[in-house]
Amino acid sequence: MPIVIGAKRESDFTDPIGMLGDCHRRIERFLNVLVSVAEQAHGEAMNAEQHSALETALRYFREAAPKHTADEEESLFPRLRRIENAGVRALMARIESLEEEHMCADRSHDEVDSLGQLWLRDGTLPSEQASRLLTLLLQLRALYRHHIATEDNEVFPTAAAALSAADRQAIGSEMASRRLSAREK
Ligand SMILES: [Fe+2]
Ligand SMILES: [Fe+2]
Repeated sequence: MPIVIGAKRESDFTDPIGMLGDCHRRIERFLNVLVSVAEQAHGEAMNAEQHSALETALRYFREAAPKHTADEEESLFPRLRRIENAGVRALMARIESLEEEHMCADRSHDEVDSLGQLWLRDGTLPSEQASRLLTLLLQLRALYRHHIATEDNEVFPTAAAALSAADRQAIGSEMASRRLSAREK
């Protein structure tokens, strides 16, 4: 595993809950990139650095971020639903809201991707679309701020304490196979 000096060492598949938290840091980072480019260039011609940053961040949200959502919705949340424990039961309403927020974020990301692709393709974006792009990104930033705080501060610590070793291992291997099958495509 590569070690980045000055950065926290990233978790691996033996610590799936830690990995989910690491994914949040990437979501925040790439969303900040999108907001910066949209604010700085605002639909005008981009310099090479902005062009490449926009392309990379859009790709991240198109290809990698949906795997994080699947990790939560298909691997983590169903296992939490099966746990008979007061702390976990208390989280269930929260988890339903998180799933609704995933759908809402997906719709916004689809629109962000279309507008971003248009900008990359045409070199400029009409001002109405540039404003729409920035509005969507600021809404996404607000949504994620709340969403990620709930997961990092409430769901993940409860999950880390309540999940059995077997569940943890199964979640890790499902997360690994989601990434492996994507590489094989
Ligand atoms: Fe989530
Ligand atoms: Fe998450």
